[in-house]
Amino acid sequence: MRKIAVLTSGGDAPGMNGAIRAIVRVGIKRGFEVYGVYEGYKGLVAGNIKKLGYSDVSEILSKGGTILESSRLPSFKEDKVQEQAIHQLKQRGIDGLVVIGGDGSYKGALALSQKGIDCIAIPGTIDNDINGTDETIGFHTALYNIIDAVNKLRDTSSSHHRCFVVEVMGNHADNLAIYSAIACGSEIVIIDKTEYDENKIIEELKICEEEYHKKHAIIIVSEKILDVEKLANRISEETGYSGRSIVLGHIQRGGSPVPEDRILASKMAEEAICLLEKRKSGLCICMKDNQIISKNIEEALIEKNENQDRLYQLFLDLA
Ligand code: ADP
Ligand code: F6P
Repeated sequence: MRKIAVLTSGGDAPGMNGAIRAIVRVGIKRGFEVYGVYEGYKGLVAGNIKKLGYSDVSEILSKGGTILESSRLPSFKEDKVQEQAIHQLKQRGIDGLVVIGGDGSYKGALALSQKGIDCIAIPGTIDNDINGTDETIGFHTALYNIIDAVNKLRDTSSSHHRCFVVEVMGNHADNLAIYSAIACGSEIVIIDKTEYDENKIIEELKICEEEYHKKHAIIIVSEKILDVEKLANRISEETGYSGRSIVLGHIQRGGSPVPEDRILASKMAEEAICLLEKRKSGLCICMKDNQIISKNIEEALIEKNENQDRLYQLFLDLA
């Protein structure tokens, strides 16, 4: 019986458990013996690997996070560390590996496939920053979490004439910021890709207040760009709104996955098993135009995000 393994790596994402469950159950049905690697590449190198059966993945579909746990191991870029990981797999007779993670994890999977392990990558990250695929597992839930939080903030915003400056995650990719700005109907969005001018933001808020008589104002800010507290203070000083800031942080990454992420995870995992049955390697699973397909990992990583400019323009037209 052929042996394969599955691991989760990088930031956890809601829906990773659905992918693990499907790898295990579909894998067993198609005749594989399936192993779970705990703590991502760190556990792979250390040999933290256990056989998984049907019941080991019961009742995990609705849970956030990853039952296999995750890690970041910067030294996995090194040849000798990758060789150690391969040794752990070969020692157990495992020749196929499914890596669920983001773009960093994809590079690790690519390296392992180039060293002879049949490796298939599945996009698991809230950032939706793997351009080869329209959607990554976890993105929908994170978006839902942001929208839920902003709906609540809007109540206070309208009641107290406040402007909330809300920092969202996204790791320079801007997808969570642009999509949530559209879905929340925020007044302003500040993203990484375009320059921002704080004076202009203050002017825009004055227009919201004086021309449109808005009681509320929401500014969505992509992380790692500016200090949201400082911006909120300036808003208090220079506009009629009192400014408040909030960093949503890891609240965005937690919680029960929404149906879109559970279904996407199950479909992508099934495709990964199909590819391993055909002894394919170095590929990643993508959702393109509503179809589950596969691409070379390198190709998926260098693709450009064609939709983002148009979505940003849509936001500007709506705001
Ligand atoms: P994500 O997979 O969510 O993008 P990271 O960028 O933190 O998260 O990457 C997760 C892990 O993938 C890293 O801690 C490291 O172990 C591995 N990794 C990242 N870049 C590379 C690389 N160039 N070569 C091999 N492994 C890598
Ligand atoms: O990649 C997912 C992500 O949540 C990014 O949006 C964010 O920049 C990063 O991980 C946060 O990493 P950590 O959990 O290590 O703080």
